[in-house]
Amino acid sequence: MPSILIVDDEETVRETFHDVLELEGHDVLTASSFNEAKAMLAEQRFDVALTDLMLPQESGLSLLRYAADHDETMSVVMVTGHPDLTTAVEALKEGAYDYITKPVTRPVLLAVVERASERNALLREKGRLEAENEDYQRSLERKVRERTARLRESEKRYRELFQETRRAYEELKETQEKLIRSERLAAVGELAAQIAHEIRNPLGAISNSVGVLRRDLELHGDDRRLLEVVHDESQRLEDIVADFLRFARPRPIHKIPEQVTAILDDLLLLLSQERAAKSEIRIEKHYGADLPLVELDSAQTREALWNLLVNAVEAMPKGGTISVSATRSTKRGDFLEVVVADTGKGIHAGERDKIFEPFHTTKAEGTGLGLAIVHRVVEAHAGEVEVESEEGQGSTFRLRFPLSPESSSDERQPIEIHR
Ligand SMILES: Nc1ncnc2c1ncn2[C@@H]1O[C@H](COP(=O)(O)OP(=O)(O)O)[C@@H](O)[C@H]1O
Ligand SMILES: [Mg+2]
Repeated sequence: MPSILIVDDEETVRETFHDVLELEGHDVLTASSFNEAKAMLAEQRFDVALTDLMLPQESGLSLLRYAADHDETMSVVMVTGHPDLTTAVEALKEGAYDYITKPVTRPVLLAVVERASERNALLREKGRLEAENEDYQRSLERKVRERTARLRESEKRYRELFQETRRAYEELKETQEKLIRSERLAAVGELAAQIAHEIRNPLGAISNSVGVLRRDLELHGDDRRLLEVVHDESQRLEDIVADFLRFARPRPIHKIPEQVTAILDDLLLLLSQERAAKSEIRIEKHYGADLPLVELDSAQTREALWNLLVNAVEAMPKGGTISVSATRSTKRGDFLEVVVADTGKGIHAGERDKIFEPFHTTKAEGTGLGLAIVHRVVEAHAGEVEVESEEGQGSTFRLRFPLSPESSSDERQPIEIHR
């Protein structure tokens, strides 16, 4: 039921209006002046206000202005005992909903209140709908914003997924190519190992026979030179075949505690006699103090280190420095680290991945097996090998053999290239 405020200075009018309207079921409150009415309006909302135009201090028009400022939905009805056109027009201009004159009959009062509260209900409904509409608009905007954000997010995610898939595909392709390459290598390797094995005996016979002929025959000039060529070349062939068989048919690793610096000293002595003397090559040694023994297969480690030293010499045809060091490294576990560095031609960046592959060589007379053997030997010792190189500056090969008992007791089988 609508709530109604009655403002009149005449008590009888207030009470009559009050009783009539309350009987109809309305909530009715009364005030005798504008100020009293204002205090009540601050407390609660009214749907309809019936105010006398002539009030003691401020006129009923003040209530109209108050309603315009504070609650536009409240319908204000002007009541006056002295009807005149000017005040009526003024009141309506100020926003009065209706204008009735005293004496007010019951039906007139009821009718005006009914109309006013209907208008009021409509206005309230309009306000509610407007607010609802605004809410809806806002929530729509929010939803659009959220959807857009989600769409952007999923587009980003999709793009990332696409990139990831593409990367994975590239990796897969690369792995597959590598696999095919190594499968082919394994097959070729096994065939080559069989052929090498078949060649070894006749080659040995040729080599021995040539040796005998060289000793016994008195040859001169070109003939002598030709026999020398046969001798040297069959020697070289024997080396290649032996190298290849060592690689293709690796011996099992047999480890005993070794002093790595003793091995290095032997090899460096041999190197300075055999190879380094020919070109201007300086050798530097840096050994750490009190190096522990390390579990090594002496013969195979010698071979691996020898391959590194020979490569270093071959990388410096115009001379340079080979520096060899042996130290204990505890950076990532306990290791004995052997470093062989040269000041030679270095390794092209694109080549660095391939140098450990068997048969990869950039040398006219190379077999491409030296580093493959190094790699295999180091892995068989559960060690690591690393290379750093700068083209034109030199290369550094770093081998790490484990010192801790767990890893050094790890008897790994050598990796074989044949199946
Ligand atoms: N110290 C080095 N300096 C420059 N290049 C090197 C060095 N060691 C190895 N390489 C490169 O790695 C390739 C493979 O070496 P390796 O397996 O010993 O075979 P090979 O010596 O028979 O060529 C060499 O042909 C060379 O291109
Ligand atoms: Mg080599």
